Parts: sequence; structure tokens; C-alpha cells
Amino acid sequence: MIFDRNETKDVIALLGAGSMGTAIVRRIAAGKKILLGDISEKNLEQVKHDLQYSGYDVEPCIVNALDKGSVEAFAEKAASLGSVKYFIDTAGASPSQASPEHILKLDMVGTGYAVDAFGKVMAAGGAGLIISSQTGYMHRLPDEVELEILHIPTDELMNVAYIKETATQSGIAYMIAKRVNHLQAQKAAATTWKERRARINTISPGIIVTPLAYDEFKAAGDLYQVMIDSSAAMRTASSDEIAEAGAFLLGEHASFITGTDLLIDGGVIASIRTGVYKLH
Ligand SMILES: NC(=O)c1ccc[n+]([C@@H]2O[C@H](COP(=O)([O-])OP(=O)(O)OC[C@H]3O[C@@H](n4cnc5c(N)ncnc54)[C@H](O)[C@@H]3O)[C@@H](O)[C@H]2O)c1
Repeated sequence: MIFDRNETKDVIALLGAGSMGTAIVRRIAAGKKILLGDISEKNLEQVKHDLQYSGYDVEPCIVNALDKGSVEAFAEKAASLGSVKYFIDTAGASPSQASPEHILKLDMVGTGYAVDAFGKVMAAGGAGLIISSQTGYMHRLPDEVELEILHIPTDELMNVAYIKETATQSGIAYMIAKRVNHLQAQKAAATTWKERRARINTISPGIIVTPLAYDEFKAAGDLYQVMIDSSAAMRTASSDEIAEAGAFLLGEHASFITGTDLLIDGGVIASIRTGVYKLH
């Protein structure tokens, strides 16, 4: 049976078909074509099945966010399907899941590859969203390092002296990578994405209960409990709460918003800045 006879549909490309990415896609996918990208065939099959059985038009694609060629092919594939109006990047690994090098290569450089590649195919009026993290607010980069990062190509990020010297533990590497995501969105918003008349922003979620977060809870002892207890919200959140904000930033009501970050953390960073919660 043919569910939808529309031949031209706007395309949503999702890189990282995990919990948050899928929740965002569900909010915006009615009447659109979804291109799902992930390194895990198992994830792709599961998510494709769930979305198809909810009536969505979805196509899976194996993509490795660590590999520039693979990410470029993913962007080209998206463009071949129609007008690429939405790009969402949630491919990432958390500190308990990977080495500092892997985190920098995936969460920082891989995100750069995706922003660069989609900066060549986004349709006018389109919008992108990178899922960064509240940890992007936990390790301040010196101003001169931020300026350096804003002005070098993605392939040179791993050579930034400050990053090489500082990101020697997975936790710090993650904080730096997630701050760099904010800078990547700023830079693209002002340059490549601007030229295509497309917007791009980041969301920095706090503790969102997903499989990735469960790995963190297991590894971190009572750290997260203390963090939750000292935040204003005094709770974790679900991917659906991030999806609400994601749909807003990707939608036309946010058409004046680009190159910025939305921190959605239940007040964790406020409690750190004010000394209510002390980050060790
Ligand atoms: N869960 C949280 O508490 C939390 C908080 C802040 C930020 N984040 C960030 O949000 C993003 C999404 O996290 P999530 O909680 O939805 O996790 P998730 O594990 O459900 O999703 C991540 C997805 O990325 C995919 N992926 C991993 N390596 C890849 C690669 N090389 N190429 C392509 N895909 C790859 C995984 O297979 C997975 O489907 C991540 O960047 C994470 O760092 C998560």
C-alpha cells in the first residue's frame, strides 16, 4: 500500500539514530522524508522499524561520523532524496564510553565534518541542530583558544596545542568537544550555512535519561545524584523534553535564531556558577 503519494518531500537527515535524535525527528517528521544515519546497523534497523510502524517515510544509511568521506556521502545522499531542510547531529560518545582521543575525534571533529558537509547541501530556509552538552559550560576555554578554533579548518582541530595538552582525560575531552560544538555552530551560522540561507544552533542538554546516560551513571558513583539534588529542577529529564526545544529551534518560529546555544539542564550550570554545586 502507498501511504503517501507526495513525490517531493523535504528531507530530514539525522546523524546518530539514538534516543534524543529519534525523539526530535518524531516531532518534525510528518509529511517529510527521514534519512537515518548511524554506525550501528542494529540501531538503524530498530529505529527504522519503530518509525515505519508509526507511519513515517524513513530510509536507513550506515555512516561513520569519524570518517569525513562517509559523512560527505551521507550529506550527498540526503541531497539526492530532495530538499534538505533539516539536519540533526547527535552522534556522540560519553566519557565513560570512550578514550579522550575517540571523544575528540567523534564529538568534536566528527561534528565538524557533518557541519561542513551539510553546509554544502542545506536548502534555503533550512535549519540544523547539534546536540552538545551542559558539559560545554564546565571547562572554559581561553579566549585566544576559542578564536583559534573559530578560524581553523575542521581537520586541524586535533592539532590545537591547548586541546592536546589539556584533553588528556575523557571527562575533560568531552567538556572541550562540547564547547567546540558551540563554536562550530557559531562559525557555520556566520559563514557556510549563512551563504545557503540556512540556520544552525546547538542544544546543551543536562542529564537526560538515555542508554548513554545509564553508562555514565554506572561509571560515576554518586556524582550525578549530588548534581541532580543540587540543581533547581532536582530531577533528570527525558529525550522528549529536548525534542520539544529541538522542534522549536528547527521550526519557523525560530527563524531569527542562529549561531546560538540553548542550555537545557534543569539549572545545573547555574548551581555550579554560584557555588551551590562544586564540580570536582
Ligand atoms: N544522555 C545525556 O544525558 C546527554 C547529555 C548531554 C549531551 N548528550 C549528547 O547527546 C547526544 C546524543 O546522546 P543520546 O543520549 O541520545 O545517546 P545515544 O547513545 O542514544 O545516541 C548516540 C548515537 O550515536 C551513534 N554513534 C556513535 N558513534 C557513531 C559514529 N562513529 N558514527 C555514527 N553514529 C555514531 C550511536 O550508535 C547512537 O545511536 C550525544 O552527542 C551525547 O554526547 C547526552
